[in-house]
Amino acid sequence: MLKNWEMAFYYNIVKYNHKKGGQIIEIMEVAILASGRGSNFQSIIDASNRGELPNANVKLLIVNNKEAYAIERAKNNNIPYYIVESENKKRTDFDLEMLEILNKNKIDIIVLAGFMRILSKQFVNKYKNKIINIHPSLLPLFPGAHAHRETIKAGVSESGCTVHFVDHGVDTGPVIMQKTVAINKNETEKTLAEKILPLEHQIFPIALNLLTSQKLRINEGKVTIEAD
Ligand code: GRF
Repeated sequence: MLKNWEMAFYYNIVKYNHKKGGQIIEIMEVAILASGRGSNFQSIIDASNRGELPNANVKLLIVNNKEAYAIERAKNNNIPYYIVESENKKRTDFDLEMLEILNKNKIDIIVLAGFMRILSKQFVNKYKNKIINIHPSLLPLFPGAHAHRETIKAGVSESGCTVHFVDHGVDTGPVIMQKTVAINKNETEKTLAEKILPLEHQIFPIALNLLTSQKLRINEGKVTIEAD
């Protein structure tokens, strides 16, 4: 049985001295926050299993409702999960409960994968430039919970998805990556959502990899990607 200080020592070795091809790489502990289906969560698990997230350890999932299918995905992949019910709870209390879990697990990066809650100012400040979100529109167009509906209603000819840093607004933070799709004449909210989702699954893990491998810089609200 290891003593506490030995555990801490071991933990640091694992965290900071993971070696790949003779090169020392830093591993970031990642928490996923989700509210429902969790297909974006799955895309991150799959990318990680394919070795496409060498600097990320998907450490845990937090859901804010116990019916979220994301829980099944966590179980199937042996990822610890926490249910923090948000109903009838003050935003700050809910966020404090989550912060406790995140602190306890030494989480570095937070990924909002279909997480349908707005985070408090205190929460966002605590993880400044360490929280990313996926949104099914070309931000800054059509932020909020009804992106597909509003896109169709506006009659625009293209849409897509955006990975962005989370700031104090709703879907307003610096844009990391986008992918576009054309909108057909007969497009519906449903067909548009089906068209955009696979693109979300493509760019979310790529953006997460750039973040965990410390390649993203933010300058005056704009994101740049550092070359290798
Ligand atoms: C996705 O369309 C995402 O862009 C939006 O919510 C949806 C979540 O889907 N924020 P899933 O739970 O990841 O399948």
